[in-house]
Order: sequence, then C-alpha cells, then structure tokens
Amino acid sequence: MIILGIETSCDETSAAIIKANKKTGRVKLLSNIIASSLTLHAKTGGIIPEVAAREQVKFIIPVIKKALEVLKDPKREIDAIAITVGPGLIGSLLVGVETAKTISYVWKKPIIPINHLFGHIYANFVSEINNSAVPEFPAIALIVSGGHTDLVLLKNHKDTLWLGGTRDDAAGEAFDKTGRLLNLPYPGGLEIEKMAKGIKQDLYNFPRPLIDSNDFDFSFSGLKTAVLREVQKTGKIDGRIIKNISYSLQEAIFDVLINKTLKAAAKYNAKSILLGGGVAANQTLRKRFEFEIRNLKLEIPFFVPEKWLCTDNAGMIAAAGFYNYEEIPWNKITANPELYFD
Ligand code: KG4
Ligand code: ZN
Repeated sequence: MIILGIETSCDETSAAIIKANKKTGRVKLLSNIIASSLTLHAKTGGIIPEVAAREQVKFIIPVIKKALEVLKDPKREIDAIAITVGPGLIGSLLVGVETAKTISYVWKKPIIPINHLFGHIYANFVSEINNSAVPEFPAIALIVSGGHTDLVLLKNHKDTLWLGGTRDDAAGEAFDKTGRLLNLPYPGGLEIEKMAKGIKQDLYNFPRPLIDSNDFDFSFSGLKTAVLREVQKTGKIDGRIIKNISYSLQEAIFDVLINKTLKAAAKYNAKSILLGGGVAANQTLRKRFEFEIRNLKLEIPFFVPEKWLCTDNAGMIAAAGFYNYEEIPWNKITANPELYFD
C-alpha cells in the first residue's frame, strides 16, 4: 500500500510517500520533503501565523511534486492520502487540508484525517530499512513539542488513553520563551542544547514542577520566571552564564519528563517507551532516557525517531495513516486547530 502524507500544521510544509506492507505491518519511507520558513521566523523571534501560511501556499505544490518523484505513475500507484487536520495554526492547516481534498477529488483517492500529535508518536514506526524493530504494545508515548507535552498510553493502534499533559507551557515552549529571554535565536530548544554543551554542573538547580505529583501532568511556565529572576539578579549576562542557565534548564525539564514517563511505563506495564516531537531531537534527552531506563533495570525497549523525523514532517503523518486507516469522504474533512486527544 502506498500513502501520500501531507503536513502543514505549523511552519513546515511537508509531503511524503510511504510504502506499507500489510502482512509485516512495516512502513518504509520512500520520500519525505520538508520546506521550512524557519529562517523568516528566526528574524522575528517566533512564528507569525500569517507569514507561515503565506509561505506554505508558495511551497505546497513544489513540495508535493518533489515527494511524488519516487513514483513512476503517482496517480495510479497512490492508494490513499493522509493529511494533518489539527491541532495547529488554522491558516497553515487549511493550506494542507484543502490541497489534500483537491487531490482526493481529482484523483479519486480516499483521505485519512490525522491528528498531528499521533503523527509524532508514529514517527517511531517509520523506518528506512525493512528490518528495524517495531514498538510493541502496550506502549507509553511522551510527546514533547513546541505546543504540546502529553503522556499517552497506547493499548493498541485503535485504543489509546491520554494520561496527562501540560497545564500551561509545553516543554518546547519553555525552551523557546527562555531562549528569547537569553537573546538566543528561534527556536530556543535547539539553541539551548548548543549552549548547554560542555557544561557538567547544574549550578542553578531550577524547580522541577510537579515531579512528585500523583498524576501525569506537567507545568513548565514557572521555569521562565525562575530564569528571569536569575537574569535580573545577575544584571549583565555573559556567554558563561547563558551556558550554565541553558544546562540547568535542560536538567530541570528533562528530570520531570523522564521521571513521569518512567512512572507511567511502570504503572501500565509498558512493553515499549516512545518519544516524539521536536524536543525529542535533543541529544541529552535521548541519552538520559536510555541511561535512566538502563539504570533502573526496566528492560523496556526505548524508541526515539531519527532526529530529522522528530520535528514536523509528513512521513510520520503517512505512517499514522497506515496504522489508523479510516477513509473519510473528502467533503467531510475539515481542519480543526483545537483538535486534541479523545
Ligand atoms: O514538533 P515540532 O517541530 O513542532 C510542533 O509541533 O510544535 O517542535 C518544535 C519545538 C520547538 O519548541 C523547539 O524549540 C523544539 O521543538 N526543539 C528542541 C530541539 N529542536 C527543536 N528542543 C530541544 N532540543 C532540540 N534539539
Ligand atoms: Zn509537531
């Protein structure tokens, strides 16, 4: 089965082709084209929705055209179109959704609507090689992106349970806002990772919000205030201070993320732990997860997508489409910026 995936929920414009084997249940990525307006947003220190959507209107057709190049006869070979319908920025979502509907109508192909958050989970089911391992159920998934921090239990592909999420800022948002405070370019998460390199001591020991709470909720908005207080106390901040703050901030956020995820994995007897979303591209977070799982002798396989599949891309959306195949007529598909977990 061949699926065309399309993703335009935030500032990326992406189209991908996957080849899925119904017998083996494996998904192979044939193409995954991503165009980003990140450099424009870096100039403004964040995403301006109108700017993002206008860029996506320009990118969408060339990006789809490029993704289709791996097929000889796309119109004949494609079996379905998987499209991100939410959550995200409405202007951005509409670019992808309306394009997918048009292709569906003209080429008479079924559409599979995909929740972007599930897409991040399914980045763990994408492989470029056929024999890589596929996560087993029940699985605990942690989604850490710019807009979301969520813990989800997957009993199987169809039966999922949202366990908890952030009460205020998402982990990526905490990095982005603190990055702005420290005069670092957007996106803050990536810059903070670079700044934290080489530091080994947690000098600032920022709070670990809700780390011992009896639920699976998160709260990261207090961290930017804690950083602001340090910045105000110090007066003029130099490179050394920024590096130390970056390291301490990562440690605080990652301690909470890892602690709660492993608690959920133990509670639900997880057979795999999945990480996804832009923050999952962070090397320290990836290494610390592996270390803590080994340290606690949990023996639960840990999955994290390749770095380029952690941030928004259509490959993960196409994969989610295969494992959650549900055809919806094109005229019933609508973008839903507020879409969440059921
Ligand atoms: O998943 P994503 O591409 O878009 C959303 O769906 O939000 O995630 C973007 C977020 C941004 O907040 C960015 O700062 C963060 O991911 N991010 C990182 C890293 N790369 C991107 N955070 C920490 N370390 C990184 N290397
Ligand atoms: Zn995302």
